Amino acid sequence: MSNAQTWQPDDYRRNAGFVSTLGLPVVDLLAPQPGEAILDLGCGEGTLMERLRDLGCRVTGVDASAEQIAAACARGLDARVADAHALPFTAAFDAVFSNAALHWMLNPDAVIAGVARALKPGGRFVGEMGGAGNVAAIVDALVAGLDRRGLDGRAALPWYFPTPAEYRGRLERAGFTVTAIDLFPRPTPLPTGLRGWLATFAQAFTARLPAAEHAPFLDEVEAAVRPVLRGADGGWHADYVRLRFAARRTG
Ligand code: BEZ
Repeated sequence: MSNAQTWQPDDYRRNAGFVSTLGLPVVDLLAPQPGEAILDLGCGEGTLMERLRDLGCRVTGVDASAEQIAAACARGLDARVADAHALPFTAAFDAVFSNAALHWMLNPDAVIAGVARALKPGGRFVGEMGGAGNVAAIVDALVAGLDRRGLDGRAALPWYFPTPAEYRGRLERAGFTVTAIDLFPRPTPLPTGLRGWLATFAQAFTARLPAAEHAPFLDEVEAAVRPVLRGADGGWHADYVRLRFAARRTG
């Protein structure tokens, strides 16, 4: 995850509270059973952990953000700061679950290897992340804005958005059997508009610029994507594309 990115639970709730709600179908795909030990990888402030706990699971959460983990612990959840590229668990979980977090982890093979290690034999890995083409209009505008300022916009990208074939290959090479993997568009309304979304998620780009340049840069990004992401009613949506998968550790 990019060092420039920070997470403020209050801002996150306001600008991106939809993330957990829209993750509920991933919980359905997981089909959690009462008593199962489940790891929530990239648990954030723990909203979906709470859901899993309410379903009778024993849930542990990990996240890179100390602020988000503090918010999860304040809800009485078992959550701890950990680097997802070096998970400290061995044969501890019936399932690993992840919603809207894996695309922040730029060494996917290290993450998948740690997930395989953390699972009991036969354990499930079920998740959803941004897939190929995710937020493409926003990415193009952010990259172009940095390029125009003489910087390498692509080098600032903090996200990994794989195709199903690529992610399937990584899972299979790590000893998983993939039982489902799908890529689908999910245009997503933004409750606080594009600027709220950018404030929460685009810090890796603004961090490359002096503070005085942030507002003009974000104005340009907004103007570039307005024709495709702003509706006639003035509401904004983001051009999300999801990669959703379920796999079982068989190797
Ligand atoms: C996503 O959930 O797809 C996402 C969220 C923030 C930045 C990039 C992608």
